[in-house]
Amino acid sequence: MTDEVIIEATEDAVQRQYVYIEKVKEITAEQTSREGRQPTYDVRVFGCQMNEHDAEKIIGMLEEMGYSKASAGEQADVIVFETCCVRENAEEKIYGHLGILKPSEGDKRSIVAVTGCMMQQPQVVEKIKKSYRHVNIVFGTHNLHLFPELLYRYMSEGRRVFDIWDAGSQVVEGTPITRTEKVKAWVNIMLGCNNFCSYCIVPHVRGRERSRNKTDILEEVKRLAQGGYKEITLLGQNVNSYGNDLGLKDAFAELLYALNAIDGIERIRFMTSHPKDLSDSLIQAMKELPKLCEHLHLPFQSGSSKVLKDMNRKYTKEQYLQLIDKVREVIPDIAFTTDIIVGFPGESEEDFQDTLDVVKRVRFDMAYTFLYSKRTGTKAAEFSNQIPEKVKKERFQRLVETQNAIGAELNLKHEGLTEEVLVEGKSRHSDAMYTGRTREYKLVNFTCDEDLTGQLARVKIIRAWPFWLEGTAEPHQ
Ligand code: SAH
Ligand code: SF4
Ligand code: F3S
Repeated sequence: MTDEVIIEATEDAVQRQYVYIEKVKEITAEQTSREGRQPTYDVRVFGCQMNEHDAEKIIGMLEEMGYSKASAGEQADVIVFETCCVRENAEEKIYGHLGILKPSEGDKRSIVAVTGCMMQQPQVVEKIKKSYRHVNIVFGTHNLHLFPELLYRYMSEGRRVFDIWDAGSQVVEGTPITRTEKVKAWVNIMLGCNNFCSYCIVPHVRGRERSRNKTDILEEVKRLAQGGYKEITLLGQNVNSYGNDLGLKDAFAELLYALNAIDGIERIRFMTSHPKDLSDSLIQAMKELPKLCEHLHLPFQSGSSKVLKDMNRKYTKEQYLQLIDKVREVIPDIAFTTDIIVGFPGESEEDFQDTLDVVKRVRFDMAYTFLYSKRTGTKAAEFSNQIPEKVKKERFQRLVETQNAIGAELNLKHEGLTEEVLVEGKSRHSDAMYTGRTREYKLVNFTCDEDLTGQLARVKIIRAWPFWLEGTAEPHQ
């Protein structure tokens, strides 16, 4: 897994895919007339928003090639796994799902393709080669755009296809995309990560930071606005360093100003911000730009300055708390969410108390909490002072209880208030309710006399639950 060779993802390579899309389309058209039904796909996503977004590209390519979405319970003609390896349990889950797929006699054969972060690890690819022989196509995060070519190669040659690139290619533009949502959309602004936090596999499997050109991003968002999208979430492992690789300074804040000016887009979000790079110009932009939501996801990982140093996070507990204060001074009502790791190698009870202290002092609206998971290839995997599972779990339990109580208390403050909610559609829990989020990213389920999907509604909060708010829409003007 070196990053020494930079393979250019030339425009040619992208253009070539349209030729392969046509070739596969001929095959699917023939299959449709022979079987009297359109062949189907099933794309299964594990992992973060980056993977959700990559899956939208896989689906975009599959639909261009003549496949339609399989109905629930149906075995699809093409099954694609978009994998994650950030923690061991993510990998185990995926192996489990892949195992279940093994075709038994008489079963209809599907084409099984596996891609995503997990495939960037050579030991995983070896295991798939040997023990998961029903997997037909394997490709990685850097050559996702070649999927039509790889699929056609498998279809025409009938031999298993393995194509994984070690290096991060240039940013690829022009891949077809089918968005899974109609109201809000993910927009990648950069790929990869340069930070090498000692526990994290992401830089090893997603390569170095590569920013998209501002003009490409603006074009994409303008098209989204024309398509009726109201909210965008800008994606990157560390959006605060957007543009650094292009030799630009303060480019993220500038990008936000340009995006704020696009008519039709009502809300802008972004993730993830690394505390070490959160600039004053970004805080200023959050204050000045009306479309930037009052929510900041700012992972702190650990409250102990010693652990933070071992994690290679490049800030201390005090610096993190000061940063929170600085943001709150400028934007008093902002909601903070965070990521926390429990049981990093060498974490003492005292270190853990520092984590609890940060949780209590900041009062996050929500926290994603993780048990430290040893990842082969990362620096922390070699640390000798790993924490026993039992200790990790016990601390995890205390952390979750502390955070949940705070989150529930903060939700209670919303009772009786009227909030702006971007309506995403019917609630999954009840057909009688609609669902959406406030600017602070609070989930709201509410009753409403009319279907306001895609619009901003005024919703009176009548009850706060620990993880969501219940409301009723005010009459629409
Ligand atoms: N780039 C983002 C998120 C990366 S992965 C960031 O820097 O914030 C999402 C989260 O997974 C991380 O914030 C971290 O809390 C968690 N994570 C990453 N590697 C992990 C590991 N080895 N064990 C447990 N949690 C981990
Ligand atoms: Fe991983 Fe750290 Fe990069 Fe986030 S910033 S992706 S945690 S290495
Ligand atoms: Fe995301 Fe998992 Fe990859 S968290 S970047 S899908 S390793």
